[in-house]
Amino acid sequence: MKERLLELKQEALEKIKQSTSMKELQDVRVAYLGKKGPITEVLRGMGELSAEERPIIGQYVNEVRNEIADNVEKKQTELKELAIQKQLEEETIDVTLPGRPVRIGNHHPLTAVIEEIEDLFIRMGYQVAEGPEVETDYYNFEALNLPKNHPARDMQDSFYITEEILLRTQTSPMQARTMEKHHGVGPVKIICPGKVYRRDNDDATHSHQFTQIEGLVVDENIRMSDLKGTLTLFAKKLFGEEREIRLRPSFFPFTEPSVEMDISCFKCGGNGCNVCKRTGWIEILGAGMVHPNVLEMSGFNPKKYTGFAFGMGPERIAMLKYGIEDIRHFYQNDVRFLKQFQQA
Ligand code: DAH
Repeated sequence: MKERLLELKQEALEKIKQSTSMKELQDVRVAYLGKKGPITEVLRGMGELSAEERPIIGQYVNEVRNEIADNVEKKQTELKELAIQKQLEEETIDVTLPGRPVRIGNHHPLTAVIEEIEDLFIRMGYQVAEGPEVETDYYNFEALNLPKNHPARDMQDSFYITEEILLRTQTSPMQARTMEKHHGVGPVKIICPGKVYRRDNDDATHSHQFTQIEGLVVDENIRMSDLKGTLTLFAKKLFGEEREIRLRPSFFPFTEPSVEMDISCFKCGGNGCNVCKRTGWIEILGAGMVHPNVLEMSGFNPKKYTGFAFGMGPERIAMLKYGIEDIRHFYQNDVRFLKQFQQA
């Protein structure tokens, strides 16, 4: 009987040794130590043994069972460790692999142009002011020397909300709003970027909503030459040091005299090309010396103070700078268009 047990033990230990999975090991354990296993069978046959033999064999059976159980346990630990080891190996990260690029958003081309212009004027000591898009008739027109019967106030051109309230058609109302805040005391030096609205049918060069940047300087002894110097610097910084500017007489109700500023074509340098329509010059903005009526209506003494103002359209500037042919691209948010303006 002892030999049989020894045989069983060796068999079991061998099978344990050869097990390569928890499942196999479990099967070996059940096969040898389970109720239907050969050891239990040996135990059952113990009744046939003599009284002396019984305790010896009983003890031996126990030893065999314990040894098999111990080995199962050891093997179990071993297999678990192996499994962890294997998992670790399989899951190792190759830190030398290149990362997956994450697409980062970028500034909208209009925002980029507006910020570039803002930065430029901030460096010249200007402050950035913003005002309401829903504006009163007074600030949008009247305070800018456009009295009630002025043709530029045509209902057809503006989005009126009531008779006295409309969506601002220009950023110029910020001139009056800012001067009022200064209570007749200079200097005033601001630029005002913002959205404006007009009743236009949208096409390649018109949009019912677009942006403007207004500039206003009011102080003692401000002259046309200050305006010219400022605009020259602006043109050179934005379009290249070789740019020259040209001022043409124009008319705006809130400036006198009024001018339109052209820059020498940045594409052909002035020889004539498709960008400047063969004239060598590109129209960029409107400007002028603040009309005395405008100063007076907003609380500044026109005998003591003078000023200049200018207004420009960032869409037009961005279109020229980047060769964009349709203003509607700015508002459609097509990522293929927008991501072309990703800064390095
Ligand atoms: N507000 C004008 C427009 O919308 C642009 C403009 C012209 C603004 C001359 C000014 C200026 O401040 O001096 O057409």
